[in-house]
Amino acid sequence: MKYNFDKLSERRHTHSEKWNVKDNELPMWVADMDFMVMPEIQEAVKKVATNGSYGYSFPTEEFFKAYQNWWKSRHDIEIDTKSMIYVTGVVSALDSLVRTLTNAQDNVMILSPVYNNFFTVVTSNNRNLIVSDLIYQNDNFYIDYQDVEEKIKKHNVKLFIFCNPHNPIGKIWSKEDITKLYNILAKYHVQMISDEIHCDIVDPGYKYVPAMSISKDIITCIAPSKVFNLAGLHSALTVVNNPELKNKVEAAFYHDDIGEASYFAVPAVIAAYTYGAEYVDELNQYLLINKEYVKNYLKDNLPHVKYVSGHATYLLWLDISHYGLPSDVFAKELREQTGLFINDGLHYGKNGGAFIRINIATSLDNVKDGMSRLNQFLKGK
Ligand SMILES: Cc1ncc(COP(=O)(O)O)c(C=O)c1O
Repeated sequence: MKYNFDKLSERRHTHSEKWNVKDNELPMWVADMDFMVMPEIQEAVKKVATNGSYGYSFPTEEFFKAYQNWWKSRHDIEIDTKSMIYVTGVVSALDSLVRTLTNAQDNVMILSPVYNNFFTVVTSNNRNLIVSDLIYQNDNFYIDYQDVEEKIKKHNVKLFIFCNPHNPIGKIWSKEDITKLYNILAKYHVQMISDEIHCDIVDPGYKYVPAMSISKDIITCIAPSKVFNLAGLHSALTVVNNPELKNKVEAAFYHDDIGEASYFAVPAVIAAYTYGAEYVDELNQYLLINKEYVKNYLKDNLPHVKYVSGHATYLLWLDISHYGLPSDVFAKELREQTGLFINDGLHYGKNGGAFIRINIATSLDNVKDGMSRLNQFLKGK
């Protein structure tokens, strides 16, 4: 391998949110990675750091072209640079989009379990949440299309926020899934937003389907922050193909003060999307080794913890229903007794109460340590 994923960045006692833990604790929670950022990105950041002036910045044509080339070469889709809007983060974008596309008290639909901020961007904006639970069957999750349609009709839903691939279940939605969902939404004039922040993190041999490839009406949020570990640089894109709507969204981002480029993000993103293909391939290979380790470890040592993740993201979704503990209690006691810090499933919806989420974007040694702590906790239970 060209890149060394066993060598981690030292994040303890830095201002890392993930690693702001006690010395004996092992954080496998918030969705960022412990690997060293790709050297080509570090070089690009260092180069502009020595300039000595970190003033207001703008995203250059090269920046938008880098996104365009990446999506064309990796995801077989041509995104018009005119449809791209810079935004500081995907959550900020979703938050602003909810205000721009709906009115107070309107109904917004999501599929649960899902990334926790999907709930807050709706409720904190004084909109009502309409939740359709995913169907959990044979260790897999499925969209309940009938429930989605019935609730849209009943509640006059205006907006739908989709996660593609889906955090926390790690599922890559198929072309058929997205088409079927989009057709229901289009029938009732429900605007669809697709959050595709995890799209580059897929098991080798797998590909995600950009929702935009089903319909250009779907507003899409994309970013290099998960796959290249750049969340602290605050940079993402929202793609809106309808020019009138694009202007409206851009004005809202400007008004919300989330549309101004970060000085360091611009060169970092260009470097990521220009030089990152081999890095991402190797990263996905390494993550698969970690995933396989967990799968085999559970099978051999903790057969009552069920591995139910799909083929995307570095977040594993594990079924702990056998132990009869609500996942918030499970996570709290696990941390107190062993120092292993993971996310409880209730964070992602009421139907997440029998699951935990573990972030395996760290060294295999740390993953082994995590599994052994989980085993220690579950001994005798
Ligand atoms: C589905 C999803 N969307 C958005 C985010 C956060 O995006 P940002 O840091 O750009 O706000 C995350 C982070 O975990 C996520 O999982």
